[in-house]
Amino acid sequence: MAKIVGAITTSHVPAIGRAIDKGLQDDPYWKPFFDGFPPVRDWLAKVRPSVAVVVYNDHGLNFFLDKMPTFAVGAAPEYRNADEGWGIPTLPPFKGDPALSWHLIESLVADEFDVVTCQEMLVDHAFTLPMALLWPDQRWPVRTIPVCVNTVQAPLPSASRCYRLGEAIGRAIESWDTEERVVVIGTGGLSHQLDGTRAGHINKEFDRKFMDSLVDDPKWATQYSTLDLVELVGTQGIELLMWLVARGALTGKVDKLHSNYHIPISNTASGLMLLENRD
Ligand code: DHB
Ligand code: FE
Repeated sequence: MAKIVGAITTSHVPAIGRAIDKGLQDDPYWKPFFDGFPPVRDWLAKVRPSVAVVVYNDHGLNFFLDKMPTFAVGAAPEYRNADEGWGIPTLPPFKGDPALSWHLIESLVADEFDVVTCQEMLVDHAFTLPMALLWPDQRWPVRTIPVCVNTVQAPLPSASRCYRLGEAIGRAIESWDTEERVVVIGTGGLSHQLDGTRAGHINKEFDRKFMDSLVDDPKWATQYSTLDLVELVGTQGIELLMWLVARGALTGKVDKLHSNYHIPISNTASGLMLLENRD
């Protein structure tokens, strides 16, 4: 059966793409952020996953307000970046895995998660930048499955629902009759608010507590409603729901191998965690 090797959770901010393009990794502003990644890359080089399930929130690129799925799963042979944040960066396309996508979709629907299926899908910075941070040579050694969670238009799925989606993804992967090694990547958060009178809002205390909870008490954040979470971590900080999905997918004993937290990158509290999944 396929095996889930672990989860990587990270923030995403379009400015990271620009920093990569300009080679600013050692710039004093960026260094504390980029320095978080080598231990995760070392782990990836050692564990060598063959597939990445990437849980992220689309920002109005592939889905807009006219049609907004709560949960959507890519089932395309290939995904291309189309994010215009700082000019469309030229990134190599990402290989899909339609066989696993359809297994995941069938298993999720059987598990009563009625996801939207996307046989064509454009991906934005929330998908592409974590990939570029994890595999800086951009030769993507994994096939990818995008999983989108709506954080753009109310009503949003609850934290508890997101955690259970993660559990259903974990069951789906582990019922897949192959020898694939799957890493689950969750991108978004941590606390940030880009708009309104609270623009710039960051909540370090909550972020820290949330990161700690993911190791041994991963349902801790599910006590909060989405409105509570928006109040605590900001209108875009709610993207931390992706971390709950990724954590929910871990089926075994979880060890925290690495984490990093740095304030701010752009307007965002940036967090990074590597959680290994033991049998
Ligand atoms: C920023 C953060 C995000 O999550 C995002 O999607 C876009 C921008 C920011 O902090 O600039
Ligand atoms: Fe975002």
